Amino acid sequence: MTAWRTRPTRQVQALREDLHAARYTVDHLTELLGPEAIAAMGREQVVPAVRRARTCTAPAAVLARLFVLGDQVTPAEVAAALPRCAEDAAELGLLAATPGGTVRALLDLRPVDLGTGPLHLAADLGEATTGRAVQADHVLGLGGASRTLAELTVPTPAARALDLGTGSGVQALALAGRCATVTATDISTRALEYAALNADLNGARLDLRAGSMLEPVAGETFDLIVSNPPFVITPRAEGALPAYTYRDAGGTGDAMAEALVTGLGAHLAPGGVAQLLLNWEVHDVADPFARVRDWCARSGLDAWVVGREVADPCEYAETWLRDGGITPDRDRQAWDRGYAAWLEDFQIRGVHGVGFGYLTLHRPAGPGDRPAGPGDRPAGPAGQWLRAEEVTGPLPGPLGPAVAATLTAKDALAGLDDAALAALPLTVAPDVTEERHYRPGSAHPEVIVLHQGGGFGRSVRADTALAAVVGASDGELTPAQAAAGVAVLTDTAPEAVLESVIADIRGLVLDGFLHLPGYREE
Ligand SMILES: C[S@@+](CC[C@H](N)C(=O)[O-])C[C@H]1O[C@@H](n2cnc3c(N)ncnc32)[C@H](O)[C@@H]1O
Repeated sequence: MTAWRTRPTRQVQALREDLHAARYTVDHLTELLGPEAIAAMGREQVVPAVRRARTCTAPAAVLARLFVLGDQVTPAEVAAALPRCAEDAAELGLLAATPGGTVRALLDLRPVDLGTGPLHLAADLGEATTGRAVQADHVLGLGGASRTLAELTVPTPAARALDLGTGSGVQALALAGRCATVTATDISTRALEYAALNADLNGARLDLRAGSMLEPVAGETFDLIVSNPPFVITPRAEGALPAYTYRDAGGTGDAMAEALVTGLGAHLAPGGVAQLLLNWEVHDVADPFARVRDWCARSGLDAWVVGREVADPCEYAETWLRDGGITPDRDRQAWDRGYAAWLEDFQIRGVHGVGFGYLTLHRPAGPGDRPAGPGDRPAGPAGQWLRAEEVTGPLPGPLGPAVAATLTAKDALAGLDDAALAALPLTVAPDVTEERHYRPGSAHPEVIVLHQGGGFGRSVRADTALAAVVGASDGELTPAQAAAGVAVLTDTAPEAVLESVIADIRGLVLDGFLHLPGYREE
């Protein structure tokens, strides 16, 4: 028996049919409202979309006014847009009558496209719609972080998937099409009610469980774990700030993140991947990854941290005060009190900044597999792959396929010493281009840069030998053969050329500039 309220299946089914009949999809709304209004909505500005939607009688426009834009509509418009479920809409908790005789939404319900098939997602109404700060038990809909994680997630099918801190269920729903079973946990029963509604609305089966982080899955292992956890580092000073369940799991500093990362080893099956978004405290500005690297080492898993930014304590406090609807204009005292509490909390632990980034953990399959479970090994025990890198700025497209390809390349490279790698015919990836810069009048390039069009959109400096070996990688020549050719042209020993490029070749294979034989698009 579930510990949370679920809505009657027949009525949810009627709603589902109405949403489909209305063509309530991202594409159709873009047609109706226009790309400018949609772009403004992305900046939390609803005025252009409201103006446009009010001129349109299409059912999808009426639904958008109600459930996304915070507008009120007439009962007749509701009856036309939701012919099957209008009568049950109040009982379903969708709509309420206003004193003025119009109808308003009680929840946010919008079409979502995460590249895994169109979804409908219900969640609490946001601040942009209500104009009010959200409540402490607010259940998030699709936020920027939700989309980032969904697009970062490896697209590989998995037998058993787990979404920790599922909220509206958005990650779990994105996984449901390609994973045989999807378990989703949350501490909030309100969140689980939304996740159950969203599962029914999207015809997905989710195994929903109430409880804190990994507690509800004690003793179980999964092939894919995702989490956009409540990672916000929050001061605990009495009365300084509300405790928002969607962003704060309690505890001091980044303790939740530490417990999660070090605990995941016990839950990842061989070959399994875990992907998280995280904040971590930076105590030493010279090594912003120190804490998260230590947690990764203790997880016993291969780990890859992509650091996206480090916020200074003031920026961090301001961001999260505003996120909770506290601004200096609205309530100067609450702003000052909260700001001071954050700075005090950071000062106590010597926090100089807060890192934000993406973490991918991987338990290699097969004989090289290492024991599960949290451990107390020092950072980087022998055989463990730990990569922490800063990747700032905009990134092209969904990253999931590139992450999956990197994990595959990482395991393949682990079994290849330099001689074995040099003897394989490599292929330069189709999205790689080369840029050369010359001093005026010079025949030789001063700077050569290899650019990656997809994946992480990396750019790598190359010398002429490396550029020549990459350029010769047509799927037939090996690096050793290409290096021999360069050696002839430059009157150098072939071994010296190969030695000068092989570490870079390894890196280029890892990052997808070069493909090993048998490479398959993820
Ligand atoms: C940032 S939201 C993520 C929601 C959703 N997964 C997404 O990607 O948009 C974090 C979720 O963690 C839940 N949460 C907070 N504390 C938790 C805990 N101790 N254990 C499990 N879930 C928790 C919140 O209720 C919220 O739904």
